[in-house]
Amino acid sequence: MDSEHIGDSEWSELQANLEATIPVYDRINRFATLGQDQRWRKGIRELIPTNSSVLEIGCGPGTFSERIVGCEVTCLDPIPAMLEVARTRINKARSERGENEAIFVEGTAEEIPLANCSFDVVCCLFSFRDFQDKRKGLQEMLRVLKPGGQLLICDAGKANFLHGWLGWLWMKLWVGSYARLICKQSDHPWKWLTKTYVHFGTTRKYKKMMREVGFFPVKGRLLFPGMAVRFIAVKPE
Ligand SMILES: C[S@@+](CC[C@H](N)C(=O)[O-])C[C@H]1O[C@@H](n2cnc3c(N)ncnc32)[C@H](O)[C@@H]1O
Repeated sequence: MDSEHIGDSEWSELQANLEATIPVYDRINRFATLGQDQRWRKGIRELIPTNSSVLEIGCGPGTFSERIVGCEVTCLDPIPAMLEVARTRINKARSERGENEAIFVEGTAEEIPLANCSFDVVCCLFSFRDFQDKRKGLQEMLRVLKPGGQLLICDAGKANFLHGWLGWLWMKLWVGSYARLICKQSDHPWKWLTKTYVHFGTTRKYKKMMREVGFFPVKGRLLFPGMAVRFIAVKPE
């Protein structure tokens, strides 16, 4: 594993561990981020113009897309069990708001089974870190965006080596202890959060990668209190 790639066997193991987090996913995220994850997700949703066609890559159990209002929503994830949980949760919320159902697609960011130039906005909340090939994932997200469309990414933040070391300490001690308690096992699936974070690159690295792939302009900044990073990248007209 490095800042750009995750090997096949490690990615399969990561996926199995992500699937195991489903029953406690929201609860541990709230604790791990001191409740800030909801604020970060809301901040990304506020950047989505009403009536947009939105694609969420790596939707997981539907925590983010459940609350997108007034848009056409498509959710993509490689884990069928995640898609099933997301489908029930998101479509229940959409039907209560009188909106039509969202679309659910099994697949990966590296090979998005959808047409070119079909979305106004592509969102990636806490899934970019898990891509097997981050450059290929960015190329694919650029391909499915309409010209002028925007890519919104939020993930664990890493400004530099020192910040990365503090983040690692936080995940290992704070998140690790709580996950051990909740999952009642020392070999809990949240260990992979620390593993993928250790190999995650800096904000500067991914901003450069987004520009090389063809996004312009690209913005990236840490979100208060510095545990998360947000990227806004535009597909040129
Ligand atoms: C930590 S969850 C994030 C869930 C959700 N987006 C949220 O806001 O909490 C990461 C998700 O990314 C998915 N994922 C992992 N690798 C992926 C890839 N290569 N392409 C697309 N999704 C991927 C996982 O299956 C998992 O459901």
